Amino acid sequence: MRAVGNDVVDLRADGAWGKSRDKRFVCRVLTASEQNRLAKSQNPDACLWAMWAAKEAAYKAVSRIFPDISAWPGRYETVFDHPGLPRQFAGTVNTPEGSVCVRLHWDENRVHCVGLIGSSELWQDLTADVFEPEDGAHPAIESSAKKISAAARTAAAAAIGLHTGLPHGLVKIERTRVSQRSAPPVVKIQGIHTETPVSLSHHGRFAAFAFLAPLQAQSAAMCS
Ligand SMILES: CC(C)(COP(=O)(O)OP(=O)(O)OC[C@H]1O[C@@H](n2cnc3c(N)ncnc32)[C@H](O)[C@@H]1OP(=O)(O)O)[C@@H](O)C(=O)NCCC(=O)NCCS
Repeated sequence: MRAVGNDVVDLRADGAWGKSRDKRFVCRVLTASEQNRLAKSQNPDACLWAMWAAKEAAYKAVSRIFPDISAWPGRYETVFDHPGLPRQFAGTVNTPEGSVCVRLHWDENRVHCVGLIGSSELWQDLTADVFEPEDGAHPAIESSAKKISAAARTAAAAAIGLHTGLPHGLVKIERTRVSQRSAPPVVKIQGIHTETPVSLSHHGRFAAFAFLAPLQAQSAAMCS
């Protein structure tokens, strides 16, 4: 079983900075022990969004396997390996369908989290990136949001192409739908659906992606 999820939060986007003081939001999305961690944190906004990004990354990974899983943030408990908030750290998110390992990285501008389901060796097969498609631009309007979504998709497709040695135009990442709900993106090679786990995220100035290297058998089939 292999699945990946990732989530980026732009700490400077409207509504992000200072959100840790929004008690109603905090009580809605964090469990009691997470609220306790937030109360002790010296970087409360980064701490809040790190827990949020971890929950979202875990949800994206686990919902790939269990599409009907609850998305209620209070049912996702983050357990971080470090009591403080170092710039890079790891942890676990306990979800209603088992735990997801997470790795986080943050700075003054953004928090990025990748969640992984599978054996710990899979981290070696992971490729992830966060980037600013338009330097300094804050996508506040719908068309810009679409542009940044497309940028995440294009960059992930290019990275998968590079990884597999396929011309980048042959790799496409498509959004899927299950009933009325949005569902995980899928990787298609020459129009054929592959099992490559991929995850996209975008918020404020940032776009991000993560994917797991295609299994060797898959790679061989793709290249033939
Ligand atoms: C679907 C959801 C995970 C998207 O996350 P988001 O933070 O709003 O937006 P992001 O930019 O990080 O991610 C968007 C991408 O996630 C992907 N996505 C959509 N549904 C998904 C799903 N069910 N599983 C995995 N990935 C999904 C899509 O590729 C989408 O990109 P696109 O819109 O460009 O196609 C989110 O809206 C959601 O429903 N979350 C559950 C409720 C919640 O808030 N939970 C908190 C943690 S449990």
